[in-house]
Amino acid sequence: MRWSLALAQVVAERMRWSLALAQVVAVLVMWIGGASGVFPINVCPCSKRSLCQPLPAKLQFQVQVLVFDHGGTDYQHYDWSKITAVVLGDRFSKEILCAAHEHNARVIMRGTTMPQGFVNHHRRQIWINRNLGFVKTLHMDGIYLEMRDIIKSGTMDQESLTLLINETAKAFHSEIGGSQIIIDVPWSPHCRDDRCYDYAAIGSSCDFLVVMSFDMQSQMWDECFAKANAPYDHTYTGLSAYINLGIDSGKLVMGVPWYGYDYPCKHFFEPGRCKLEPVPFRGAPCSSEVAKKIPYKDIMQELPKSFTGRYWDDNYKSPFFVYKANNTYHEVWYDDPESISLKSTIMKKLKLGGIGVWFGTDLNYSFNPTAAMQTEDMWNALCPIRKKWRVGTI
Ligand SMILES: *[C@@H]1O[C@H](CO)[C@@H](O)[C@H](O)[C@H]1NC(C)=O
Ligand SMILES: *[C@@H]1O[C@H](CO)[C@@H](O)[C@H](O)[C@H]1NC(C)=O
Ligand SMILES: *[C@@H]1O[C@H](CO)[C@@H](O)[C@H](O)[C@H]1NC(C)=O
Repeated sequence: MRWSLALAQVVAERMRWSLALAQVVAVLVMWIGGASGVFPINVCPCSKRSLCQPLPAKLQFQVQVLVFDHGGTDYQHYDWSKITAVVLGDRFSKEILCAAHEHNARVIMRGTTMPQGFVNHHRRQIWINRNLGFVKTLHMDGIYLEMRDIIKSGTMDQESLTLLINETAKAFHSEIGGSQIIIDVPWSPHCRDDRCYDYAAIGSSCDFLVVMSFDMQSQMWDECFAKANAPYDHTYTGLSAYINLGIDSGKLVMGVPWYGYDYPCKHFFEPGRCKLEPVPFRGAPCSSEVAKKIPYKDIMQELPKSFTGRYWDDNYKSPFFVYKANNTYHEVWYDDPESISLKSTIMKKLKLGGIGVWFGTDLNYSFNPTAAMQTEDMWNALCPIRKKWRVGTI
């Protein structure tokens, strides 16, 4: 059975354990153990004791490069010279902890929020103490909060979420000097997917807001056609809208996808005109929910099988192609080094704090020379001016 950090937290909460935190963590570590986890509490699992120290507050980077990991051993092949922090997936990994610290990159735990439970101060404190305990015991450098909940404007939920983040930041910063509190937010602040948070207030408390500049077709209100996952213009206007709310642009991190969408066409007219079966999502009549998300490494395997080859849509500034399988046409929209390096230039234009990629594990890290080149190009697209980001200001 594969237990996730988040699940373990929920279970612990449900059972209302009154055990000391260390015991909870001991159980947690057993759960998340399996192939990669088990080590006794308070014993450093890395080769050097120093690798179990969170990175110091004075170690700061001019630009953040966050990589979202999704498990497995791909991390061994990451371009660590570019990474400033890695956000763990569902499972804690001592191997990633040691590798990241060895490369002066922070390790961030993924947490989830349950806003309905946070209306009172006491519940928030329990949640904060538990998460802070996990992060400290497992030698990590911060927490990333993934918020997927529907929150309406002006409600108690909205207010308690703001308080939760304010209090979390306070507790983490005082206990772990260089720690980072990172919050994810939708590509645009205008209540996308019914996620209405008080972004300005959240932005003033946390270290970074990661704007998820992708999955932009979850709600299609007009035509029901296959479209780009992360159009350039939407990326730009979405990020600008956060800045217009008064959020310091240096706290904004632009999230870019290393995956795309494979849309089955209900009617295929011509490349770029793939009509979809309407699947509603949160009130919108049509959605990318009808498509399958596929990692870049699989897209690169599919591309040679397409009858169109790679097309470029100049409106979305994204590539796509069409293939046919089982008598159905499929249109695949994705991002590649060209579309990502175009988006990377937005970082400079808007003076953003950095860039984040979903997921580090979406590339092909085999020794095949073609795959290796495709993978290297994707890493390089994160910094188009061919200069290493990681100029530390120590
Ligand atoms: C957190 O909330 C307190 C009290 O409302 C406020 O004074 C403080 O500025 C907030 N902290 C941040 C970092 O926004
Ligand atoms: C085509 O159909 C076969 C058999 O039903 C299935 O295994 C395969 O995944 C389908 N291919 C695509 C691309 O949908
Ligand atoms: C990586 O690329 C090589 C060459 O294109 C291919 O043979 C292999 O199946 C790919 N591996 C993955 C995991 O996609």
